[in-house]
Amino acid sequence: MTVPIAIIGTGIAGLAAAQALHKAGHAYRLFDKSRGAGGRMSSKRSEAGSLDLGAQYFTARDRRFVDQVNQWKAQGLVAEWTPLLYNAKEGQLSPSPDEQVRYVGTPRMGAIAKAMAVEEFTTFNCRITEVFRGAHHWHLLDAEGCSHGPFSHVIVAVPAPQATALLAAAPKLAGVVAGVQMEPTWAIALAFDTPLETPMQGCFVQGSPLDWVARNRSKPGRNDSPDTWVLHATSQWSKQHIDLPKEAVIEHLHGAFAELVNCAMPAPAFSIAHRWLYARPAGNHEWGALADADLGLYVCGDWCLSGRVEGAWLSGQDAARRLIEHLE
Ligand code: FAD
Ligand code: NAI
Repeated sequence: MTVPIAIIGTGIAGLAAAQALHKAGHAYRLFDKSRGAGGRMSSKRSEAGSLDLGAQYFTARDRRFVDQVNQWKAQGLVAEWTPLLYNAKEGQLSPSPDEQVRYVGTPRMGAIAKAMAVEEFTTFNCRITEVFRGAHHWHLLDAEGCSHGPFSHVIVAVPAPQATALLAAAPKLAGVVAGVQMEPTWAIALAFDTPLETPMQGCFVQGSPLDWVARNRSKPGRNDSPDTWVLHATSQWSKQHIDLPKEAVIEHLHGAFAELVNCAMPAPAFSIAHRWLYARPAGNHEWGALADADLGLYVCGDWCLSGRVEGAWLSGQDAARRLIEHLE
């Protein structure tokens, strides 16, 4: 019987690792504590429709990721998003067009991960609390006390602060990962019955509690009614207000949004807030992935490269590549 490889995390890094292992003919099993796949690039179902509260769009600069994005495009999972972009600086709002190609999942960001997570190999609602090695193989313990295994190798594909706890079997690796800081982001969505009278569809913001604003229905495949906006706070504001109740976060960021746009700002018909505790790494690294190859333990995620969708995908592929090379 083939002993599969365990992958913890069904964010884009874990899924990219699974994809590369499958292509090379290796069996794997994926585990995630959430109800569905995608992690920070998933979408949240709400009474205002599906909302992209995490990753907003992504760019593709590495040739390997460009090829992947083209395949997703051909499968109808991804489309280009060409928003009317603005820049807000010191209270001044101005158009800020550029030539950058930006992509989104269609009809929602979460569609990409949903298509990549093969149901029969994936266990959701399963928080792994311990990764340990038996006489010959690896085993996982979950929060309910259930054990999973045996596995030949383990790929940990979760944000660095969550990965550290799973790396007790490899103290050196755990030490490196423990040094990676990740910063939070408060995200909210506001839905307005009457569309806001602004041509703006996306805005990079400076000098405000806000960092980014996007009009959800300007993205391909979404035709939300009401008019829904996603607002992200800066890391700094999010850190300073990390324990603020959601209602107060919505009130503050709604206020900052009203200051930003030069149009009437009604009360929202619907609002929602989400706190991403480990939204982005504090800096970039060039690790690709980390490993204790002799032990058979691999670690990947956006924080191993750039804190972006592309970085996460490349990191997952790199972890799988290293594992496969070590087997040859
Ligand atoms: P994650 O997506 O975090 O996946 C990790 C998975 O592991 C999760 O599903 C989690 O549930 C699971 N997990 C964690 N611990 C355990 C455990 N113990 N047991 C089981 N499962 C576990 N990137 C861009 O390129 N463009 C953007 O516009 C953009 N905007 C962003 C906005 C926000 C608010 C946030 C939060 C992120 C944004 N990003 C953006 C970053 C992008 O979303 C990430 O870089 C990428 O999705 C990270 O993928 P990942 O697989 O490394 O990690
Ligand atoms: P990108 O090239 O569109 O943006 C990179 C950065 O360049 C932007 O953050 C912005 O500061 C600037 N920029 C780009 N186009 C601009 C324009 N037309 N006008 C003014 N400024 C502009 O995309 P890339 O490199 O793929 O980055 C991904 C995005 O994801 C970034 O905006 C980043 O901030 C965001 N992100 C947000 C996270 C969060 O937690 N809020 C986490 C990770 C990424």
